[in-house]
Amino acid sequence: MKKLLIQRYKKSERFNHWVVAGTFVLLAVSGLGFFYPSFFWLTNVFGSPQLARILHPFIGVVMFIGFFVQFFRYFKHNFFDREDIKWIKGIKHILLGREVGDTGKYNAGQKIMFWLMTICMVLLLLSGLVAWRQYFSSYFPIWAVRLALLIHSASAILLIVSIIIHVYAALWIKGTIPAMVEGVVTQEWARKHHPRWYRELMAKKGRDNLKKKQSVNQ
Ligand code: HEM
Repeated sequence: MKKLLIQRYKKSERFNHWVVAGTFVLLAVSGLGFFYPSFFWLTNVFGSPQLARILHPFIGVVMFIGFFVQFFRYFKHNFFDREDIKWIKGIKHILLGREVGDTGKYNAGQKIMFWLMTICMVLLLLSGLVAWRQYFSSYFPIWAVRLALLIHSASAILLIVSIIIHVYAALWIKGTIPAMVEGVVTQEWARKHHPRWYRELMAKKGRDNLKKKQSVNQ
C-alpha cells in the first residue's frame, strides 16, 4: 500500500540546511587540523594547509550566514512549552523508543540542540573575527586574541559533539532523513513523533480546502 506523504521542508529550506551542513564539515575537518598536530594532515581538505588557513575563516562566515537564515526560519518553533517538560521527564521512555508528550514541530531534545547550535554559532563568529589575523587581530591586545582562540576551540568542540548527536538522532528515528533530503515524511511518522504539529497541519489543510471550495462556489 502506498504511504501518504506530507511536506516538512521546502526546497529552499533543504538547500539552506545542506549548505550549512557542508560548510560545517569543511570547517570541522580543517579546524581539527589546526587544533592538534596529529590531525595536521586534515588541513589538506582544501588542497594545502596554506589554502586551508586562508579559506577557513571565509567558509566560517558562509556557515554563519546560512545558520542565521535557518535561525529565523525555525526559532518560533523552538520555544519551550509544558509538553517539553513531560518529554524531558520521560527521557527514559524516549530512549526505549516510546513517545512522550504532545510534541509540536520539534521535540525538547531538538529544541535544546537548536539553542546550543545558536550559542555555538554566535561564539564561533565573534571569537573567529577577533582571531582573524589578516583583518582584525591587530585591533585587539594579545590576551584578547588568546582568549578568543580558547573560546573558538571550546565552542567548536561543543558544536561538533552536538552535531554528532543531531546526526545520530536523525538516523535513529526511522523516516527522519527523507524530511531533509526529499522534504517529505509519512503521515505515520508525523502522527507518532510530532502529533501536535500533525494535527495543526491537517487543520490548516482543512481550512485551506474549505476556502478554495468557497471561492469556486462564489
Ligand atoms: C552533517 C549532517 C547532518 C544531517 C544528516 C542532518 C540531518 C537533519 C535532519 C534529518 C533534519 C530534520 C529533522 C526534523 O525535521 O525532525 C535536520 C534539521 C535541522 N538541522 Fe541538520 N543535519 C546535519 C547537519 C546540520 C548542521 C551542521 C546544522 C547546523 C549547525 C544543522 C542544523 C539543523 C537545524 C537548525 C534543523 C531544523 C530543526 C531544528 O530546529 O532542530 N544540521 N537535520
